[in-house]
Amino acid sequence: MRILITGGAGFIGSALTRRLIQHADHEVLVFDKLTYAGVLSSLEPVSTSNRYGFVQADVCDAEAVSAALEAFQPDVVAHLAAESHVDRSIDGPGAFIQTNLVGTFTMLQQALGYWRGLSEARRHAFRFHHISTDEVFGSLGEDGFFTETTAYDPRSPYSASKAGSDHLVRAWGHTYGLPVLVTNCSNNYGPYHFPEKLIPLIIIRALKGEPLPVYGDGSNVRDWLYVDDHARALQAVFERGEPGQTYNVGGDAERKNLDVVRTICGLLDQRRPRPDGRPYAEQITFVTDRPGHDHRYAIDASKLKRELGWAPSVTFEEGIARTVDWYLDNAGWWQDILDKRYATQRLGVA
Ligand code: NAD
Ligand code: DAU
Repeated sequence: MRILITGGAGFIGSALTRRLIQHADHEVLVFDKLTYAGVLSSLEPVSTSNRYGFVQADVCDAEAVSAALEAFQPDVVAHLAAESHVDRSIDGPGAFIQTNLVGTFTMLQQALGYWRGLSEARRHAFRFHHISTDEVFGSLGEDGFFTETTAYDPRSPYSASKAGSDHLVRAWGHTYGLPVLVTNCSNNYGPYHFPEKLIPLIIIRALKGEPLPVYGDGSNVRDWLYVDDHARALQAVFERGEPGQTYNVGGDAERKNLDVVRTICGLLDQRRPRPDGRPYAEQITFVTDRPGHDHRYAIDASKLKRELGWAPSVTFEEGIARTVDWYLDNAGWWQDILDKRYATQRLGVA
């Protein structure tokens, strides 16, 4: 298959690209604007493959999207390009509206024109796969899980923009017959995670001897999925999922933020003890909470497991240990990002 991956230079898109080249025989064209979050070095492991190509362009640019579709002739569009960071959406929502809503609209319109021009057999086989988030469902109390039929209740500019994009995708499927798929996934973590997100931020700041910022009292709960397991789920869905369907993806690994931070500190204590021999947990600092901070997300992924035979392959304990080891072994990858002074106000490290 030929897969056009928007946002393929990002955290999840690069994991999907590496998987499809290294563990399958698909051809991939990455279509990415290379915003602050696009990191080309995450694609270095596959950059010499003759099944890999790259276009630097904006998903809001209809001509560039159309040209890429016509030139590459994909069987699947995997649409991951988005502004993805909740805190940034609170500080500046405009880019989220533009990329997540206008960009998804542009992708849908151009994909629809391309799809209509395909032969009947290729039209039948084509998929537009929209990659979305569990945050569209809002916030849970102590009990319950999000299912595919949970009502939408987005509460941040980021999640509202993703919810809107999900609705656009389903509308293009329902109204125009475009064969669409939607997946809503919980928090990913693993190698090549951009340093502004909780897990890499804590690892890097710990190593630099900086305070480890925990929002509020650290009791907020996220469900964590190792990124390569998400890539496996995405592949299963666009290869075998039923058009028009939505699949929830989750890790069965709910953790309180404070427990995640303490786990990372414990792993670093074993692997890279502080020069003064004191525990990294001493660096934990409780800071002002995120405005409108969702309390708990939890995913029921039983539909994906039942219908497509997918399950997470890595426990949180295995995945977080692998992740800490990867950041210890690949300081060049993240130091390069910090040297470009991305988001240094928020990261608080130079
Ligand atoms: P990311 O921020 O790491 O990467 C986003 C990528 O999109 C970057 O390479 C960036 O350059 C590119 N991009 C941004 N705006 C663009 C534009 N206008 N045109 C073209 N490219 C553009 O994001 P991620 O964490 O890899 O998330 C990927 C997708 O998965 C997003 O749609 C996100 O909403 C969704 N998602 C993320 C998670 C998570 O835990 N990270 C969980 C569920 C769903
Ligand atoms: O649930 C899926 C979502 O997960 C994705 O849709 C988003 O794209 C992705 O960014 C992620 O959103 P979160 O807001 O959950 O991720 P983040 O890493 O920003 O924060 C995780 C939790 O940790 C959240 O409860 C806020 C908290 N946090 C975050 C940071 C950056 C802290 O306590 N301290 C921090 O410094």
